[in-house]
Amino acid sequence: MTRRSVIAGVGSALPKRCVTNAELAETVDTTDEWIVERTGIRSRYIADASETTASLATDACRRALAHAGIDASQVGLIVLATATPDQTFPSSATKVQAALGINDCIAFDVHAVCTGFLYALSVADSMLQSGAADTALVIGAETFSRILDWDDRGTCVLFGDGAGALVLRAEDGERGILATRLHADGRHNDLLYVDGGPSTTGTVGKLRMKGREVFRHAVKNLADVLNEVLAAADLTSADVDWVVPHQANARILDATAKKLGLPPEKVVVTVDRHANTSAASVPLALDTAVRDGRIKRGDLIVLEAMGGGFTWGAAVVRY
Ligand code: UT7
Repeated sequence: MTRRSVIAGVGSALPKRCVTNAELAETVDTTDEWIVERTGIRSRYIADASETTASLATDACRRALAHAGIDASQVGLIVLATATPDQTFPSSATKVQAALGINDCIAFDVHAVCTGFLYALSVADSMLQSGAADTALVIGAETFSRILDWDDRGTCVLFGDGAGALVLRAEDGERGILATRLHADGRHNDLLYVDGGPSTTGTVGKLRMKGREVFRHAVKNLADVLNEVLAAADLTSADVDWVVPHQANARILDATAKKLGLPPEKVVVTVDRHANTSAASVPLALDTAVRDGRIKRGDLIVLEAMGGGFTWGAAVVRY
């Protein structure tokens, strides 16, 4: 028997306030038509002052633990992916830990921007397989609204806030994470970045993106890493029941599915409702498709993401 990291439960959380394209167009020089046609986005959720990355993450974790039927006291590892932590330090993972009343476990943040959840999942999987813990919370949580330049219509319409979480449990059997693959290429730092930071400007900074160039790299890198992770698990795209992709742009989702020969019905799409929530987007989409009954136990799912760095990665999981 192989010890694997099984998804025991899923959960997500969104801020209270939903902002439609039409509402945005009241203050930003844009239109609903442009946003829908170029991105597929119709609305996004924006955190208020009381909602933070850690508070959204905590709510998502509570739902994932309830879904798994597992008490927080059993959690031995928390890995939280974010590029928008509550503070520079301590990690948002330790804030979640405290809010859940867990007094002693391993807890840390990982940072790979929109690919952060895939990095967190891979790290947690390795630690569960090594025996460092038996139960983990793996979280993607962001408040990108805090780092948007609301005068830059090329970026501010694209992003939203939210959190998603998985409970992973080490079990012997056929279900669970079958393979993960991660990549980074720092030569492309300047295509998608934040123009601030504690060690440079001393400010938080704002998001900057050369969207068209990011788009071009995204389609190629995502198709490549999906083929790579399926080959690593000795599977092909014909075996896949569901693709749960990073939700950046509906056109990227379509182009990637086409490159792999996957029918669009197998791709979980939430970008219309949530916009791009960076590291939160994959677990948010997974939670949506599990709760609405599309993804069922035993289904083969692939998760993928691409983001600043560049970073990109994928995982194949028997749910
Ligand atoms: O999550 C990390 C990964 N991120 C991504 O994957 C994002 C990848 N990139 C994209 O999704 C797309 O490149 C965008 C959605 C960001 C932009 O779409 P595009 O088709 O590449 O448009 P563009 O940036 O080339 O802009 C086309 C036109 C420009 O006007 P001109 O120069 O042609 O007159 C822009 O000024 O659209 C204009 N424009 C807008 N118009 C109305 C840009 N933003 C807006 C806007 N509303 N919000």
